[in-house]
Amino acid sequence: MADLVYSPGLEGVVAGETAISTIVGGLEYRGYAVEQLAEHATFEETAYLLLYGELPSPKELGEFRARLEAAQVAEPILQTLRALPSDASMMDVMRTGASMLAHWDPDTADNSRDANLRKAERLLAQLPVILAAAQRLREGKEPVLPQPGLSLAANQLFMLTRVEPSPAWERAMDISLILYAEHEYNASTFTARVICSTLSDLHSAVTGAIGALKGPLHGGANERVLEVLQKVGSSDRAEGWIRNALASKQRIMGFGHRVYKDGDPRAAYLKAWCAKLAAETGHEDMEQMADVIEGIVREEKKLPPNLDWPSARLYHYLNLPVELYTPLFVVSRVAGWSAHVIEQLSNNRLIRPRANYTGPVTRQFVPLAERK
Ligand code: SDX
Repeated sequence: MADLVYSPGLEGVVAGETAISTIVGGLEYRGYAVEQLAEHATFEETAYLLLYGELPSPKELGEFRARLEAAQVAEPILQTLRALPSDASMMDVMRTGASMLAHWDPDTADNSRDANLRKAERLLAQLPVILAAAQRLREGKEPVLPQPGLSLAANQLFMLTRVEPSPAWERAMDISLILYAEHEYNASTFTARVICSTLSDLHSAVTGAIGALKGPLHGGANERVLEVLQKVGSSDRAEGWIRNALASKQRIMGFGHRVYKDGDPRAAYLKAWCAKLAAETGHEDMEQMADVIEGIVREEKKLPPNLDWPSARLYHYLNLPVELYTPLFVVSRVAGWSAHVIEQLSNNRLIRPRANYTGPVTRQFVPLAERK
């Protein structure tokens, strides 16, 4: 074992190869800068790019969107959502939902590329329905089905409110989904790759990935960012709060990244949309508060914000309940997870690293009768 190197948290370890995205010198999906996709593409185009490797032609996009629209959520699943405890974590509901979808998917047992592409498309369409249905049920309302012809981003908002969003709100949601869609070997994606490397199925990989994403060191951070901002309350209290938090060695949610040390390009891009929606919805003081906190964290800890820092504000301005923020990350990242599962299976090798043993040295067994 002497020649094997151990790095806590696999920091700096290359654990595989991927053609799906790179975060070296900025974030690119299949060679396209994420800022270009956020500026000019839709989430549907981006999901297609991640799954198929190329941006779709108008015809391909139309057929893709038609397949998404045709995907249904089986009625027993919606009935089960009614039976779940109303205070269940929404990430637990998404995890249960992804697992339940496997029971009604005709391709679950088929691990071929074509079957996994069909399943990935269905998950892309079904997870937003589960998110919205679960939320409306806990509000005592009936689920709303997706409106034919609306984009996935618009339908996510429509299914929550029964109101079609304005073009600006639809675009804000669309951009957040584009920015969250893929990020190389992050913890939840690596989880999905480990699971499917045993030749297990896509739904098992996505269910495990949701479990990993839930954690506050990963996807769960965006919900805690809003809790921080609401705790601070106003921009005139921001400096006091953050200096106190740093003095007490608190981990500031929405800051830092295992790989990005000079800043997360997604956070930089989304900031302008936060300002735009804040002005439209009267949340300028929250933007001011965020700027004060960001400036001090950068100055004192040399830590730039990651995507969760602006995304929490954007979702707040879109009037979304905070417990939906990480589930929205699931709705988006299922595109990346599925692409990685398909890539892993295309040239699979069971992922099975080693560990340094730190337990007791070899010792003789003592029969029960002789133990004190
Ligand atoms: C996502 O990997 C991905 O790509 C993830 C993601 C994706 O798209 O999939 O980008 C999405 O998960 C973004 C990250 C969301 N998480 C948070 O915002 C939670 C807060 N951030 C941290 O917990 C932390 O920055 C991590 C977990 C994101 C990264 O941590 P590392 O690489 O393990 O670094 P570390 O914990 O070893 O910290 C190094 C130093 C420590 O100081 P010292 O103890 O050495 O003095 O930096 C400090 C840490 O205390 N530090 C922080 C901090 N993050 C790191 N201090 C205060 N607040 C923070 N947020």
